[in-house]
Amino acid sequence: MTTIQPHGGELINRVVIGDERERLLGQAKSLPSIRINTWTISDLDLIGVGAFSPLKGFMNEADYRSVVDQMRLADGTVWSIPITLAIDEVQAAQLTIGQKVALIGDQDGLIYGTIDINSLYTVDQSYEAVKVFKTDDNAHPGVQKLLERSNTYVGGEIIVLNRPQPEKFREFYYDPVETRRIFAEKGWRTVVGFQTRNPVHRAHEYIQKSAMEIVDALFLNPLVGETKSDDVPADIRMRSYVALLANYYPADRTFLGVFPAAMRYAGPREAIFHAMVRKNFGCTHFIVGRDHAGVGDYYGTYEAQEIFSNFKQEELGITLLFFEHSFFCTTCGNMASSKTCPHPKEDHLTLSGTKVRALLRDGVCPPPEFTRPAVAEILIEGMASQVTI
Ligand code: ADX
Repeated sequence: MTTIQPHGGELINRVVIGDERERLLGQAKSLPSIRINTWTISDLDLIGVGAFSPLKGFMNEADYRSVVDQMRLADGTVWSIPITLAIDEVQAAQLTIGQKVALIGDQDGLIYGTIDINSLYTVDQSYEAVKVFKTDDNAHPGVQKLLERSNTYVGGEIIVLNRPQPEKFREFYYDPVETRRIFAEKGWRTVVGFQTRNPVHRAHEYIQKSAMEIVDALFLNPLVGETKSDDVPADIRMRSYVALLANYYPADRTFLGVFPAAMRYAGPREAIFHAMVRKNFGCTHFIVGRDHAGVGDYYGTYEAQEIFSNFKQEELGITLLFFEHSFFCTTCGNMASSKTCPHPKEDHLTLSGTKVRALLRDGVCPPPEFTRPAVAEILIEGMASQVTI
């Protein structure tokens, strides 16, 4: 069974159920409320189920400032991405420290939880952007999302009273407590987590399987929360993962479950966040390849690997597996990286994401050395039914 400790030592559970939930829901109806969007609902839920352990709520000012400046919570625990609740200034003026407030979905009016406010603060978002994203360029999708929000944040511990209900591929949603139990039941002592927001191409498969050679199992954990509009939609990707696993992976050594968080595109900092969260899901190892969670040219190819050298292994508590840029080499006749292949670039088959999307949109399968035909067919069919890809 896996013995890995959750980040911070304790798997947080802030989801209230049963009679207590009924009672608190009743109470919450007469509380002042803050309306929260899909992104914040997903953060709330991930805090609630312990995926963001040791966080028990949205960050207060001390944690926020410490995370932005030092990639640590105020108590020194490694944490690289601010998890914050933004509210408009007018509403903030009506709230006070010590108050309990209901958190209500802006689309459905449902009470998702409550927050006990212990901090109300205003931040310099350009500063946050430069620290977290290494740029305040509004063309960066993560920066754009950040700058769209109010710069007034509310911190405090939360509880969850209603869980967001997935519309699709419901059977692939597992809470950290469940994945930990499942990994243990399967007798897996070591599990490597794989983050992706893309279809699994041959390079992904290569680094996953290289990792699988040294651990008991792979947890394929695609991110299915908000992504930028030109990323392949999650439901199409999910169909492609299912087909790929069924055809090319050993069923007794792989497990597919979604990560319902929003994509920040924060490159190096997000790699740390991704690793800590996968530790909470029970992974002992985590893969970081080239330009992990990157976008455009904002980050160096291996910056998301290098950033981990800021921390001691015992502070991270999960083993990072770093992989070089991988490709199919036509001379080697197999997948390789510069660590294993001596041949020149011209022998290497590499396609940009833009090029692959263009091929798929035109109904053309990328070469099988790049994408398995079983995957390409699903992507082509899925994209044909999409208007904007
Ligand atoms: S991410 O934004 O979720 O990181 P993506 O789904 O493309 O993007 O990548 C998933 C993981 O595979 C990341 O760790 C990334 O670094 C790695 N990766 C993607 N393509 C390659 C490649 N050609 N060679 C090595 N690693 C790769």
